[in-house]
Amino acid sequence: MTRNGRTPSVAVFGAGVMGVGITALVVGRGLPVTLVDVDQARLETARKRVRDELRMAHMMGALPRRGPAGELSLAGSAVAAADATWAIEAITEDAELKAKVHREIAAAVAPGTPRITNTSSIPVDELAGQVPAPVDLVGVHFMNPPYLIGTLEVIRGPRTGERAMSAVRDLLTALDRKGIVVGDGPGFVTSRVLHRMINDAANVVAEGRATVEDVDALMEGCLGHPTGPLRTADLIGIDNLVDSLTVLYERTGDEGCRPSELLLRKVADGDHGRKTGRGFYEYGTR
Ligand SMILES: NC(=O)c1ccc[n+]([C@@H]2O[C@H](COP(=O)([O-])OP(=O)(O)OC[C@H]3O[C@@H](n4cnc5c(N)ncnc54)[C@H](O)[C@@H]3O)[C@@H](O)[C@H]2O)c1
Repeated sequence: MTRNGRTPSVAVFGAGVMGVGITALVVGRGLPVTLVDVDQARLETARKRVRDELRMAHMMGALPRRGPAGELSLAGSAVAAADATWAIEAITEDAELKAKVHREIAAAVAPGTPRITNTSSIPVDELAGQVPAPVDLVGVHFMNPPYLIGTLEVIRGPRTGERAMSAVRDLLTALDRKGIVVGDGPGFVTSRVLHRMINDAANVVAEGRATVEDVDALMEGCLGHPTGPLRTADLIGIDNLVDSLTVLYERTGDEGCRPSELLLRKVADGDHGRKTGRGFYEYGTR
């Protein structure tokens, strides 16, 4: 497969929960990835974490076992992304930091390269107002874990151009994902609905009305959710969840999005969910 005469490749920014998950999906579909993070410790464990996700994806039949995996390169700065066909930003949910990184990406890649943000909550147009060539900026909200969940939310900001939308369609085809295009705004569709619900679930526990296990059992058993809201919080990462709720609260004024005291306490205690070994549940090694 070539695109504009070049072998297509992806640059992924952020080697956290989502950056590693997206990388596993992309290399698992045979495309090379340059994974960029400023945290050396994150980079040092990234290759193993990608390998672990690929192993799990293969065990579950979520990615093809046949065919070569894409090559993985690791880098500490945006310069390494110069030749990328698509740039995907999956760094910390912080609007100022994301805008800065998008300026670095825009300076590194060829003009016209689609620049994708995986933000959960920050309006694409808010970022577009702070970066060059906003026409090339588009939101693609990969779900967690990316190798398993085949449907994605695609956010077309008011300044996103057709060339970027077409490039995203090409990428999703190569990754065998289905995109649903939605309008821009805090939390788009999925985080606007889901994050508020998880926050309410935490408040219910904090009020002493039900245990963590019972809240999840009710939402799973009565309402058919595959995973209860508090186990989902652990999967997302409670630090990231609080960041996203803060974005939602600050931009909508919706009291239901003001981060629950219980969530804030877990972040302060370092109980961020699966990634630290403990959140609402225990996950073995910390
Ligand atoms: N966790 C989820 O379930 C989930 C789902 C969908 C979308 N998202 C979104 O994806 C993004 C990443 O979330 P996450 O859960 O992976 O966060 P995370 O905290 O696990 O990882 C963030 C990574 O970004 C890196 N980073 C920070 N500044 C950087 C910079 N200047 N350049 C390169 N890397 C930098 C950090 O070192 C860290 O490794 C956020 O915008 C989040 O809202 C998260």
